[in-house]
Amino acid sequence: MPRIVTLTLNPTVDKSTTADHIMPDQKIRCAAPKFEPGGGGINVSRALRRLGSESVAVFPAGGPTGQRLQELLSQEQLQFRAVPTQADTRENFIVVDSSSSQQYRFGMPGTELRPEEQLLVLEQLKELATGAEFLVISGSLPPGVEPQLLARVVRAAKNRGVKVVADTSGPALQAVLQEGVYLAKPNVGELSKLAGTDELDNDAMTQAARQLVQEGKAEILAVSLGPQGACLITRDQVDHVPAPAVKRRSTVGAGDSMVAGLVHGLSTGLSLPEVIRLGVACGSAATMNPGTELFRKPDVDRLYQWLRQTLPAKVA
Ligand SMILES: Nc1ncnc2c1ncn2[C@@H]1O[C@H](COP(=O)(O)OP(=O)(O)OP(=O)(O)O)[C@@H](O)[C@H]1O
Ligand SMILES: [Mg+2]
Repeated sequence: MPRIVTLTLNPTVDKSTTADHIMPDQKIRCAAPKFEPGGGGINVSRALRRLGSESVAVFPAGGPTGQRLQELLSQEQLQFRAVPTQADTRENFIVVDSSSSQQYRFGMPGTELRPEEQLLVLEQLKELATGAEFLVISGSLPPGVEPQLLARVVRAAKNRGVKVVADTSGPALQAVLQEGVYLAKPNVGELSKLAGTDELDNDAMTQAARQLVQEGKAEILAVSLGPQGACLITRDQVDHVPAPAVKRRSTVGAGDSMVAGLVHGLSTGLSLPEVIRLGVACGSAATMNPGTELFRKPDVDRLYQWLRQTLPAKVA
């Protein structure tokens, strides 16, 4: 059984297509749709695979779309445990207007997860946590799920010696941090909300992150800063890594790709300065591809080698 488990409480199948010209009141002819699995933890699992790390993805799935989600993951030979749900898994819709190259993303509400289904997810995670090294909690909460479910998930994982990595936002992020995680990856907006301010400059960002570490909410914080890269903060270090300049096509999936890079780095024994550079390399490589596509491994390798040149001297 893989030593990395990912959790996606709000998965989706992304249906994407292109149309010549999007106009109101007219029939819009679309190209044959493409279907891709989606949702935070599922994307992290797919990205981990590209880096050479196996994981098992846990998610609820129901109805024909839930079935399709599982088929798509099987085609990618990804390991997963799907918890059956009464409600249908949602399908998001993405259409690119080829005349303007603009992308329209329609997100459907998440699929309701009943209390008994939530317990099944928890049971599944408890079973898989035995012997696992990392649990990655990523993405939003679907309707009907209280953030306290995630607090229970974190407690169960920690009791079994599993290191929790969290990439979520709002009350869900607050609930997991209250329990204390190994690593959290907020972006700077999510960190600002936690700190209760509208905007954070570099110093205030470092200070807010430091405070969370000191309060025991996370051992490591990787704060992502979009085109400015990321900053890794622990009790005794602050390491700011600028993003390499790349030709940006779509930033969709950059955050999930970064989390995969961080977890792959940690699980293969890289040093923390190397881990954050690998995370930035994966995030930036993901922005080089159009649409919902994740990164290409050769792009990650090239960007990582470049970023390693800025390793602090003591680790280089
Ligand atoms: N415009 C960009 N140019 C280069 N790298 C980028 C750009 N945008 C994002 N990245 C890379 O991706 C990483 C994660 O991006 P970001 O901070 O936007 O995460 P996020 O807000 O969590 O993203 P998501 O919307 O996927 O959840 C950054 O740390 C950086 O390495
Ligand atoms: Mg994010």
